[in-house]
Amino acid sequence: MAKELENFPNINGYEWRQTCDLSWTLFSKKFVENCHSNAGAKSETDYIYLSALKIKEKLLEQKKINILEVGLGAGVSLFMTLDLFFSLQERDPGLSLFYVSLELDYNLALYCANKLAHKFLPEQDGEDFYLRGNNCQIQLIVGDARSRIKNLSATHFDVIYQDAFSPKNNPHLWTVEWFQSLISLSSPTVELSTYSASKRVQRAMLLAGFKVESRLGFAEKNYHTMAYGEKHPFIMNQKMEENLRLNPHLALQDAQLVKTSSDAI
Ligand SMILES: C[S@@+](CC[C@H](N)C(=O)[O-])C[C@H]1O[C@@H](n2cnc3c(N)ncnc32)[C@H](O)[C@@H]1O
Repeated sequence: MAKELENFPNINGYEWRQTCDLSWTLFSKKFVENCHSNAGAKSETDYIYLSALKIKEKLLEQKKINILEVGLGAGVSLFMTLDLFFSLQERDPGLSLFYVSLELDYNLALYCANKLAHKFLPEQDGEDFYLRGNNCQIQLIVGDARSRIKNLSATHFDVIYQDAFSPKNNPHLWTVEWFQSLISLSSPTVELSTYSASKRVQRAMLLAGFKVESRLGFAEKNYHTMAYGEKHPFIMNQKMEENLRLNPHLALQDAQLVKTSSDAI
């Protein structure tokens, strides 16, 4: 166990928890939630993000990919994306990756930057970390994503990992306004994936301008959600669109959120 603890240092406000596929996640004492499904942190990340968004295929076809992650957390998505990228880059050194991750908690960004220090020389600007090397650029942007996203230049993200805590506990990152700000930074053919299948979230995505799709969920979950930019060839199911538009449940909107409870950051 001592050896394991070296890899899993104490992070203030979090506890390490092992999931059913033996990979580890973090439990947040503040949000009272795990960063991943108990069924498997790595398996879920592979299913919801890397596989659903066809990261390998996109890298091989496009040669370059710009990824935006909402919620760095334990860095599971970042590390898995980097592992995939570096394994493909061994065969094709011309491949290039730009990865921006938004994270509220400085300690999580510090943990991830330290884990990558053997491969990159992390540079720090305030609380943000910048890691560069071999056609790979990573930015760990620290602070409330809702304000920090305004400083990001229009990067034309191809892919978004929407991985905030649940809409119930972390609603500000699931509103119409939030999804509008994601669209404004993205390519018109952007693809987004998330573990949530909440109708209110899907409505918020639709009202923000995404085309929305329900897909088979991970482990015990029935569904997860994919969303596509307006110029993406995906054709949204008409019945689903009508149902979402007529849904009596309101789309999540900033104005409905009360700033006093734990739903505020
Ligand atoms: C589900 S975890 C992310 C898991 C991560 N993608 C991984 O692979 O390990 C959600 C993350 O969102 C972050 N978060 C919550 N509210 C935020 C906010 N307003 N701005 C930026 N990050 C936020 C939390 O601190 C937490 O690390």
